[in-house]
Amino acid sequence: MGFYSQELVEEIRSRSDIVDVISGYIKLQRKGSGYVCVCPFHNDHNPSMNVNRPRQMYYCFSCGAGGDVFRFVMDYENLSFPEAVKVLADRAGIALPEREESREEREQRDLKDRILEVNKLAAQFYYYMLRQPEGRQAHEYLTGRGLSQETIRSFGLGCSGKRGNELYQYLKSKGYPDSLLKESGLMNADEKRGMYDRFWNRVMFPIMDTRSRVIGFGGRVMGDAKPKYLNSPETRAFDKSRNLYGLHLAKASRKPNMILCEGYMDVIALHQAGFNQAVASLGTAFTQQQSVILKRYTNEVLLTYDSDDAGVRAAARAIPILKDAGLRARVINMEPYKDPDEFIRALGAEEFQKRIDSAESSFFFELRILERNYDLKDPESKTAFFREVSGKLLEFEAGIERNNYIEATAARYHLSTEQLRKLVSQTGERLGGMPRAAAPKPPPGRKKPDDMEPAAQRLLLGWMSADEKHFRSISRYVEPEDFTDPLCRKAVELLKEQTEAGMFQPASLYQYFTEEEDQKKLSAALGAQLPSLGGRTEEEKALQETILRVKQQSIAWQTENMEPGDMDTLMKIVRKRREIEKLHISLD
Ligand code: CTP
Ligand code: MN
Repeated sequence: MGFYSQELVEEIRSRSDIVDVISGYIKLQRKGSGYVCVCPFHNDHNPSMNVNRPRQMYYCFSCGAGGDVFRFVMDYENLSFPEAVKVLADRAGIALPEREESREEREQRDLKDRILEVNKLAAQFYYYMLRQPEGRQAHEYLTGRGLSQETIRSFGLGCSGKRGNELYQYLKSKGYPDSLLKESGLMNADEKRGMYDRFWNRVMFPIMDTRSRVIGFGGRVMGDAKPKYLNSPETRAFDKSRNLYGLHLAKASRKPNMILCEGYMDVIALHQAGFNQAVASLGTAFTQQQSVILKRYTNEVLLTYDSDDAGVRAAARAIPILKDAGLRARVINMEPYKDPDEFIRALGAEEFQKRIDSAESSFFFELRILERNYDLKDPESKTAFFREVSGKLLEFEAGIERNNYIEATAARYHLSTEQLRKLVSQTGERLGGMPRAAAPKPPPGRKKPDDMEPAAQRLLLGWMSADEKHFRSISRYVEPEDFTDPLCRKAVELLKEQTEAGMFQPASLYQYFTEEEDQKKLSAALGAQLPSLGGRTEEEKALQETILRVKQQSIAWQTENMEPGDMDTLMKIVRKRREIEKLHISLD
């Protein structure tokens, strides 16, 4: 991470006001003295993300996403730290000196750019091959599957050569070194044959990112050989969990939904039939990152996974992921056909549109799957089933929506609405009187004793990072060593160094914690809502309690971990015990 100097990063930060930057991506609303917006990293419809100008940080109270201005740009644009630095530097009109990049980092950056460059040439080569006499079979294969010239062109389809070294020869002739060609994932190497093409005698599907850059390939055999599809491996340029096939076209479709399917050919067939909002995951399971990306372009996703068991299971796994991202989901029934490609070839676009219109809500789809685990003819099993259904109904937060689903569910299973409504509220009481999804989080600092430990420390860290004045007053009573949680301790050490150097800047802590897990914890701490305090004395009292708790934990921890007979530590502990008895906090 650290190949730009700290000063440069800080200068870019100081000229990239977080409110200005974020409002360039999403609409911010004023709220009190701060700003809120709908969180782009998970999304409900509520503005649960706070953007804090004095702290130069953002924090989502619902999903826990948070960080500084660099983190935001990294996550929103799917960039590495150096890339985010570049974006913000450009925006602020600050030139980035080349020499500030370490050689290793530049090679890494170069590597991605150069892989993209090689991929582009490869895509052009495959595209060209499809139009050569050698590519006739492949061309016939594609037209035989009903693809028009226009479709073949717009998806950039091509084919690989039959000998298995054509692309290698071509790229060598352009002067690319073996090392790069290997990193690109386009070549294999072994001792006997040296370097050779990964893809040969296949129809080639270039895979694009949202900026229409070729990041990888899928290749299909033209007959029944195995494997049917071969894909590029993940490379510096190809992250399968953060990209979707067809999204570069679908994102401009202006349709009220996105269609999520399983295969390359499904996406292509759907686009050709006018459903240009179709995308597919890349031969891997649908991921949380992909759902968050889809949420940027739509509020509703229609699932058209294969009709077989594997497809149904895949859809069932995708639904909660979509829901978590705040997306509505419906499932398209393609029976009796296997996938959208086959459906459209058999029945055409109009019939598919009808299936879209009658797509089942993900709720009922899930119920149908749930049903399989119960025997509805057996009264006991049936009751258990409806209990579970009631639990699911409680997940709808909005009363109207829940009522609609209660009515529809009752009708479907021939229950009276009243019966079901009663069961739902009983289940709700059993689960704690609260709809599950809407249960409020316990306020910070008031958790159960067993997870109290980091909570109090993080709360205190939140306090200390509020501003320099707080940091200075609280530092009189607390030392980094009082924190047993490694992350909190490190954060306090860093804040202390910053204060001594005269640059108190909590947002810059993110640079020291590169693990996503750590960044989340840090955000929870820095974004912690401090108890709203009536006045100075109340604040001092709350603070006193928190400091006491942290110190007591630290003593307990030290006592537990002390070597037997370590007199020095024992003395220290005794002294600390005495100190905290006398502790009296004042915020002067
Ligand atoms: N897939 C893969 N590797 C395989 C088989 C499948 O990566 N050996 C991925 C591909 O992305 C493919 C998707 O899974 O597009 C769906 O596979 P499947 O349903 O088997 O194929 P179809 O898309 O129906 O392919 P086709 O219509 O060309 O037979
Ligand atoms: Mn198919």
